[in-house]
Amino acid sequence: MTLQVRPFNALFAAQVTGIDLRQPLSRDTYEKLEDALATYGVLGIPSQPIDDAQQVQFSSGFGPLHQASRDPAQRRIKDPNFQDVSNLNLQGEIARSGERAYSDANLLWHTDLSFVAASARITVLSARELPAEPPPTEFADMRAAWDALPTDRQRELEGLQVEHSVLTSRAKTGYTRFTEAERKVLPPVTHPLVRRHPRSGRKSLYLASHASHIIGWPVEKGRALLADLIEYATQPQFVFAYQWNPFDVLMWDDTCTMHRAVPFDSRNQRRELRWNAVVEPA
Ligand code: OGA
Ligand code: MN
Repeated sequence: MTLQVRPFNALFAAQVTGIDLRQPLSRDTYEKLEDALATYGVLGIPSQPIDDAQQVQFSSGFGPLHQASRDPAQRRIKDPNFQDVSNLNLQGEIARSGERAYSDANLLWHTDLSFVAASARITVLSARELPAEPPPTEFADMRAAWDALPTDRQRELEGLQVEHSVLTSRAKTGYTRFTEAERKVLPPVTHPLVRRHPRSGRKSLYLASHASHIIGWPVEKGRALLADLIEYATQPQFVFAYQWNPFDVLMWDDTCTMHRAVPFDSRNQRRELRWNAVVEPA
């Protein structure tokens, strides 16, 4: 099989074919995927009916995986390598209204795990069960957004440090039921607002629903700047909507993109995807 990478459009994401994620992959294949990710930011890999062990094997080839810190009693999927991206409750049934407030935060533009020091470098998401008309997942290219800023604006933003907290994003959807233990393991962290991708050399904005305020600025002024930048960076010219098919594996570079879920008929239709993240060095 020959690995092929074809851009979906003139924006940024690409489709990868000629690869079987159920088999161990060579270092050369990982390097090619890293290059494709650095170029396109988002890669869709169709027709990959993988199980959990195969997904862990594939994603851990890129580096160490994030380990869930959330209380296992509150997790449907106990394996700490995974997060549950679904509309199912602990019993595996469609969740009733009110039960889903925690992951409703996925509807906000974000990048994964920006609220921890070892934030996500790459996310791998596999579609296990989709509604008949699956909602897309939307992505925004933070490099294109950076490139399109006037130079004097870029100069003002460079060097700013941003505080990120999971409490910030979850509060936006009305979720505040974190236990004391969870609050302790999830203290706020700081990340630069502007970063340079080590492989592509491109600069990008690093933004998320978890971004709270700018270090050293009055909190409200920082909040307003972050809200403005998120609105700016998610305009249609920077956005690509990925259309899911059953058994797709989608992966993205969290350091230079943002993404969000799109609402669907979640009271009546099941949607289940499995998530792992390759982390950055803390
Ligand atoms: C995620 C996420 C969006 C979606 O998996 O990190 O934000 O469409 N998912 O489910
Ligand atoms: Mn996410």
